Amino acid sequence: MPGLQLQNISLSFGAREILSGVDTSLDLGCRTALCGENGSGKSTLMKIIAGITPADSGNIVKTSGFSVSYLPQNAVITSSLPLNKEAETAFDPIKKLVEEKDSLATAIASKKEGEAGLSKLLEQYAQVDDKIERSGYLLRAKKIQTVLTGLGFSDQDLNRPCRDFSLGWQMRIALARVLLEEADLLLLDEPTNFLDLEARYWLLDFVKNTASGVLLVSHDRYFLDQVSESVAELFMGRLKIYRGNYSFYEKQRETELATLVAQYKTVEERREQLEGFINRFRAQASKASLVQSRIKELEKLPVVERPPSVKHIHFPFAEEPKPGNDILRVTNLRHSYGGQDVFSNLEFTLARNERLVVVGINGAGKSTLLRILAGVQPASGGKVVYGEHVTPAFYSQDLAQTLDPAQTVFESMETMTPTALFPKLANMLGAFLFRGDDIKKKTSVLSGGEQSRLLLLRLLIKPGNLLILDEPTNHLDMASKEVLLDALMTFSGTIVFVSHDRAFIDPLADKVLEIRNAKARLFHGNYSYYRERIEKENADQNETMSGEAGIAKKHAIEPENDQETAHDAMKKKRALLRKYDREEEELCRKIDSAAAFKKELEERLALPEVYMDGEKMRELKEQIKKTESLEQKHVEDWEKVSQERHKLMSSNH
Ligand SMILES: Nc1ncnc2c1ncn2[C@@H]1O[C@H](COP(=O)(O)OP(=O)(O)OP(=O)(O)O)[C@@H](O)[C@H]1O
Ligand SMILES: [Mg+2]
Repeated sequence: MPGLQLQNISLSFGAREILSGVDTSLDLGCRTALCGENGSGKSTLMKIIAGITPADSGNIVKTSGFSVSYLPQNAVITSSLPLNKEAETAFDPIKKLVEEKDSLATAIASKKEGEAGLSKLLEQYAQVDDKIERSGYLLRAKKIQTVLTGLGFSDQDLNRPCRDFSLGWQMRIALARVLLEEADLLLLDEPTNFLDLEARYWLLDFVKNTASGVLLVSHDRYFLDQVSESVAELFMGRLKIYRGNYSFYEKQRETELATLVAQYKTVEERREQLEGFINRFRAQASKASLVQSRIKELEKLPVVERPPSVKHIHFPFAEEPKPGNDILRVTNLRHSYGGQDVFSNLEFTLARNERLVVVGINGAGKSTLLRILAGVQPASGGKVVYGEHVTPAFYSQDLAQTLDPAQTVFESMETMTPTALFPKLANMLGAFLFRGDDIKKKTSVLSGGEQSRLLLLRLLIKPGNLLILDEPTNHLDMASKEVLLDALMTFSGTIVFVSHDRAFIDPLADKVLEIRNAKARLFHGNYSYYRERIEKENADQNETMSGEAGIAKKHAIEPENDQETAHDAMKKKRALLRKYDREEEELCRKIDSAAAFKKELEERLALPEVYMDGEKMRELKEQIKKTESLEQKHVEDWEKVSQERHKLMSSNH
């Protein structure tokens, strides 16, 4: 039965139509995933349903008494109330009912038996009482405790004022409130963003068991698949419903997209090859006809609309001075909040080109560690020493505060871009999926994913040689994540990062630092290797129960494990890319020197001692011909390598 109907909803921002005649109904108690690329209008649609943004046209029809509660994508709780009191405010509407019940009770008490109006009052009383009972109000203390603990809050947190929590934890407070409200429809805009795996699993369970209907945006595939009974996809302003879970939707979508993508890829690959050739050889008069024919072909290429989730990137990083082999040395590092250690005795080193992922549950201190490594927060004890010529760059969601809301996307990049990269700025914005008029948008109106992409690009345009990234994939859709991953794969510096996204961690990380129970352990392997180790440890622990034997066995596991993994494949890919880069460079050098030699020979043709001597003339012409075909061969080889490189870049990891 439909609880809520959207009838012909449309909305445009300027010339861009975000929603164009959206028509659908959300059934009572049904869990729907709302999908679509970054910027497709998901948050906008949620705001319309929540009654926060008016649509340009169309209607929203609800059954009577139907309630909606909404978690915005970037919720901030500025309340000065302590956490447990703030959580209680979720029950404010029920408190009103309790007051109503009390006044009904007083009214009933003042009536004599059989007096007119008494039976009506008794009936009202029963109704209100039933509503209160069903709302779970009487068990609210228990409910509050379950939800807050499930979302990772500790007992000590309960009395802390909400505004003292970090942004990520404020999101969790907002989420707790929404879950406690138990409205008929929960609108959850990326609730998984600030949750670690443990809290995600808890939320998953909650959402699966709630009687409320749920409309959910998330970029976490696993979560979506588990939760969704149907999928609503926003694409080019239209909402299409797929009745089935997320995997079903993906399969359907895959078939629909396959044709579109194949067409797009063929055209785009050819376009890039042609542009590469034209840019490389435009200045050489000897290649004029080759260049001209390619320009003609380029002009004739059809324009194919870019389908979603097609990656499109070649990110040219700025050259940084190369640091030595030692990047970072951490000795005896300790940090505590309010006398409680988040970690202590932390020791590790990072060598050039290493990619370290920091993992651990909520509150384990991952973000704290990254801020300390980046030098934006002092540690309680110990040392972090950078190697020579190490230039760090730090990314966290807090960087959003550095955006000037009055600036456009382009203006906000202009101020960050080193002069040498200026000519490439438009390309780089394109690589980060800002196309056409996107760059004229004010930063204040960007969607969650667009804002993250801009912040990342602002950082990566001058990345230093040590990147420190705190949850860089938050808000990013699949395509943007691939863009970021590809950019980072070609980055030649060192990376330390925190992420909860396996699809991102697996190919990138080659070392894992785990923070657990205020202790840190370093694993010399990728994330799959780390998971295997942990699972084995857990199994061993269960087998031997507790005690010395278990501990001894735990430490006996050696980190050697040499299987072919996604990570190894990635490493090979990186090595191959570097090889292609070297070959391309070498071939360009050869082409240039052949061209220079040919020019020199041609100049010699004009010398009297040559043109007077038929034999010399013939020899020289022969030599020119040979040089020309050598140059031609190098050009062909260059084209081949350039195509191979391109193929490799667009291959799956
Ligand atoms: N006030 C506005 N003026 C102009 N454009 C806007 C305005 N508000 C939003 N937009 C644009 O509308 C588009 C849809 O935004 P919305 O936030 O709904 O996207 P989304 O699907 O939630 O994306 P994400 O996955 O990144 O959160 C974006 O391209 C955004 O830049
Ligand atoms: Mg959004």
